[in-house]
Amino acid sequence: MKELYLNGAFVAPEQAMISVMDRGFLFGDGVYEVIPAYAGRPLRELEHLERLQNSLQGIGLAPPLSPSDWSPIFLRLLSETPTADQALYLQVTRGVAPSRDHRFPNAPVPTVLAMAKPMKQRDPAVAERGVEAVTRDDIRWLRCDIKATALLAAVLLRQSAEEAGAEEAILVRNGLALEGSTSNLFIVRQGRLITPPKGPLLLAGITRDLVLELAAVAKIPCEERDITAEELRTADEVWISSSTREVIPVTRLDGVPIGSGRPGPEWQRIDRCYQDFKADLRRVAA
Ligand code: PDD
Repeated sequence: MKELYLNGAFVAPEQAMISVMDRGFLFGDGVYEVIPAYAGRPLRELEHLERLQNSLQGIGLAPPLSPSDWSPIFLRLLSETPTADQALYLQVTRGVAPSRDHRFPNAPVPTVLAMAKPMKQRDPAVAERGVEAVTRDDIRWLRCDIKATALLAAVLLRQSAEEAGAEEAILVRNGLALEGSTSNLFIVRQGRLITPPKGPLLLAGITRDLVLELAAVAKIPCEERDITAEELRTADEVWISSSTREVIPVTRLDGVPIGSGRPGPEWQRIDRCYQDFKADLRRVAA
């Protein structure tokens, strides 16, 4: 990375500095977004920026930039490697305050960061064999719809999955499977695609919405409803979705095979639609 965007300027990463008094550093008092981009074209840019506005509203911070301010920043960051698949990372914190005080400063000046990093290509083994997930108690707070930088619970859960040799921790609260520590959750039962409804206990994933749209076009019946931990275990297929991981089939849960133990036919259909959607985005860029 040659440069990133920090508070109105493009600077080399080694020159990008923030104060130790930044509330993002002291309290995790900030929000963020991750936007995938293919050949320099961000996927669902407006939807991501709308979610950023919602997150900012959720923490009572005025948006420092409008969607039309963000766009040229993205284009410049992406132009460093124009043909690559990249992930844009945006972070807005409540800025620097004169002393460490939980209460909001009177006139916060947000710290605004944006940078692009290359996105890894999917390992072909994922499509062939799927991945393993584990279930964990959801130890996060009650506003998981805010994409907050205070990610300690997610960090601990993701690490716990890693240590169990799994790709993701699927989070269960009050008997309901809600989402992964860094992804949304889908199951397939008897040909129907099911995902938990949006609400304060999960992040409204942009990939999730896209998967529902693609499924509707592919005429796969969809339901947005609660999923019990039992339904998760006995599903025909389980998928996780996120901007950086796309849609991934989970073929083992807590060491037990899901369905046939191999990526299922509905996943294969949706993945084809998703790959076509990306190819179209790249073509517009060409
Ligand atoms: N995380 N749920 C959680 C808790 C997440 O952290 C994410 C994404 C998602 C999927 O949302 P989307 O489809 O909009 O990426 C769901 C990002 C990628 C991250 O934290 O790096």
